[in-house]
Amino acid sequence: MRIGVLTGGGDCPGLNAVIRAAVRKGEEVYGHQLVGYRHGWRGVLDGDVVELTVDGTAGLIARGGTLLGTSRTNPLQRDDGVAAVQATLERDHVDALLVIGGEDTLGVADQLAGHGVASVGVPKTIDNDLSGTDVTFGFHTAVQIATDAVDRLHTTAESHDRVMIVEVMGRHAGWLALSAGLAGGAHVILVPEQPFDIDEVSERLRHRHARGARYSIVVAAEGAQPAGAALTVQDAGVDEFGHVRLGGIGAALGPALETRTGYETRVTILGHVLRGGTPSAFDRILATRFGLAAVDALHEQAVGTMVALHGTEIVRVPLADAVRTLKTVPASLLDDAAVFFG
Ligand code: F6P
Repeated sequence: MRIGVLTGGGDCPGLNAVIRAAVRKGEEVYGHQLVGYRHGWRGVLDGDVVELTVDGTAGLIARGGTLLGTSRTNPLQRDDGVAAVQATLERDHVDALLVIGGEDTLGVADQLAGHGVASVGVPKTIDNDLSGTDVTFGFHTAVQIATDAVDRLHTTAESHDRVMIVEVMGRHAGWLALSAGLAGGAHVILVPEQPFDIDEVSERLRHRHARGARYSIVVAAEGAQPAGAALTVQDAGVDEFGHVRLGGIGAALGPALETRTGYETRVTILGHVLRGGTPSAFDRILATRFGLAAVDALHEQAVGTMVALHGTEIVRVPLADAVRTLKTVPASLLDDAAVFFG
């Protein structure tokens, strides 16, 4: 069997670990051949293919990014996209794809199944917003990076009697903000799932300072939104999947909170730092297990599925279930976090 591998969407720590594991098991256990398409679906459209070998992918478990490169190219946005994908796979004698991505990249794989393109998906994203799996790989590493940053901001905030706002990625889900905020002992966490009232946030900070605190940490998801107001975006244009570029909520919040509370406020945007560098041990293991399980699924012709983590087990779920709805933070977790606010 010939398997084509691609990584699409925003990169994250652990992509290389999935590729390494899939190649190792695919080649050595099953005797399959693996090739990689460069820059996600763009490489499939353009026929940009490289051989993947055990030797060429050895030692990759700790390396961040993706050796294949990635893009946000959507083949379904091109008139001849489906035909181009089919032509490349036929040219390369590829029987099925191992698609590593989030809702956009896997959504394409799901759609292409209806055109005879067989795939198995692997859930990736620092945002952790994919349904069907308890967690995506990359998320754990990003939470740790954000938590380390929040830990550091505590001491400088305390020294200067300041309010520190930390903006984190996460798109329309608050998993990263909530997790880093909880782990880092933030005093306010703002997430897309719960639009906030700026006066209420100011009041919480005043209340905390009235009790003797001299500084506060606010973690804001890039997709957090004041009630009744529009999302803060960096760029109103949309990518090939219809997404605007989020970001800027921290910069908007800083002056608003400073004016209302009188507390000196500074803003830190963690941005792409959360996506860079080496994966945590947890993500290395999860990504490796996902890579092995995806090759098993391909070997057993279980196409149209995504490998997923349920509890401690790796299972297969229908790809369609994974991409149907975004997985957002449940109210119960937000209630838990709120115990520590103010
Ligand atoms: O989907 C992952 C993600 O990191 C989001 O949290 C963020 O909004 C987006 O990617 C940023 O994408 P880009 O690197 O294309 O600006």
